Amino acid sequence: MARERWPSRLLFIFAAVGSAAGLGNLWRFPYLTYKYGGGAFLIPYLIALLVLGIPLLVLEFAVGQHFQRSTVGAMRKLKTWAGAVGWWMLGIAFVVLSYYAAVMAWSLRYFFSSFSMAWSGGAESYFYEQVLGLSSGIGVLGGINWILLACLIGVWILIYFSVFKGIKSVSQVVKVTMPLPILLIFILLIRAVTLEGAAGGLVVYMKPVFSALLDPEIWVAAASQIFFTLSVGLGIMIAYASYVKKKQDTAGDALWTALMNSGISLLAGFVVFGTLGFLAMQKGVAVPDVVASGPGLAFVVFPEALSMMPMAWLFSLLFFIVLLSLGIDSAFSLLEGVLAAFKDRLRTSTMKLSLIGCILGFAGGIIFVTGAGLYFLDIVDHFVLSYGLIMFGIFECLLVGWTKAGKEVKEHLARESPWFPVNLWWWLIRLVIPIILVVMFITFFLKELAAPYEGYPGWAIAVGWAAVFLPLVVGFFLNKWYGKKREVAEITVP
Ligand code: TRP
Repeated sequence: MARERWPSRLLFIFAAVGSAAGLGNLWRFPYLTYKYGGGAFLIPYLIALLVLGIPLLVLEFAVGQHFQRSTVGAMRKLKTWAGAVGWWMLGIAFVVLSYYAAVMAWSLRYFFSSFSMAWSGGAESYFYEQVLGLSSGIGVLGGINWILLACLIGVWILIYFSVFKGIKSVSQVVKVTMPLPILLIFILLIRAVTLEGAAGGLVVYMKPVFSALLDPEIWVAAASQIFFTLSVGLGIMIAYASYVKKKQDTAGDALWTALMNSGISLLAGFVVFGTLGFLAMQKGVAVPDVVASGPGLAFVVFPEALSMMPMAWLFSLLFFIVLLSLGIDSAFSLLEGVLAAFKDRLRTSTMKLSLIGCILGFAGGIIFVTGAGLYFLDIVDHFVLSYGLIMFGIFECLLVGWTKAGKEVKEHLARESPWFPVNLWWWLIRLVIPIILVVMFITFFLKELAAPYEGYPGWAIAVGWAAVFLPLVVGFFLNKWYGKKREVAEITVP
């Protein structure tokens, strides 16, 4: 059977940008920039992009494209045991997906309540009390939130219909979900910068404080943001690239993806801080007093600002469509990455596999729509993304940099992207990036030992670690199964 293919190079890049550009661009990048030296943050950010981000994206693209296998199959080509690492990555991707979908569910809920501007009586209590029904602590589960559960089902239906025909449906959907948020961000940008007080916000966002560069923390923050924002480390980009035909400028694809993704981040920052400047002026406070990141930004502070604008409902609708369309292609890329590994091995129909994947992902995500959902989301997100991504980055670099099959990847790059400085790249992934990642890992780990994350109880921290390492156990067995299945297939299918 011939491998599925992207209909065009453009649509592959659309899908990759769609996966990379997600909530992180909107609620993480602007905040980090503000926090770590304003415009000066762009320096470590760009350096991390060049030294860490683009080389890793090139690596994942090249691995997928060269071996023409999704994450597990490609990792097995590097080293058979590394198939277990591939499954481990995908296991974590599945965990990420289960809570990413929950955030999408909140967005869907806000989309509907935009018509009545339901939060205008108080954005904070609306989010934590009405929408989430947040319990008093992580130990109090507080029951399932039925409205959010319904929204979660809605999100999973959207995800299902994005992947149910494999790359064929994915490439149709990204035609909308990639350009739409960009277009809407431009509209929101015009709205934001023409608001009273916007300039004050933009100054806070971009005014460079170069002395901040002396703080090592800002470099670690830049590096981990680059990791997160480019969606590398979970094998998703390997899977997507495995559907690219072998002859294509791999490194060029990576460069385009990275540039567009960072462009979206930068633009989103102008929208966020322009709007925060307006909010601060309306409330008669300083901009730093209203700054937030994460859910607090997207579901409390930003909605509050929206409610003070003329035609509040319209801009609220636009904003939540941005959240949904920005996030949904990140979400279904996570699922497609997992499905691709099964599709390489099983002859089961794509629709059936997609359905099973969606049902399991939905079931696993129910915990995130309980009263304690936000706490679990916070913990799992912290552990999985801080440690998982870094570890996988190390594995990927060493596996490609120091194996025989890895050398083929280098040759592939030299052939398909003659303009690309392959030798420089080679030493980055063989040596420089692994060292940087090990240092980051240790930095994070020492911080972890110093104090439990956000003061959560010990058992909750254990849940976080379990989310990181349980997928490894599963991955070990799945890798055995994957190998066995292959032998059987070879014997019975001549
Ligand atoms: N890049 C996504 C964002 O900025 C988050 C993310 C991290 C992701 N790793 C991923 C998305 C893997 C899809 C696949 O929001």
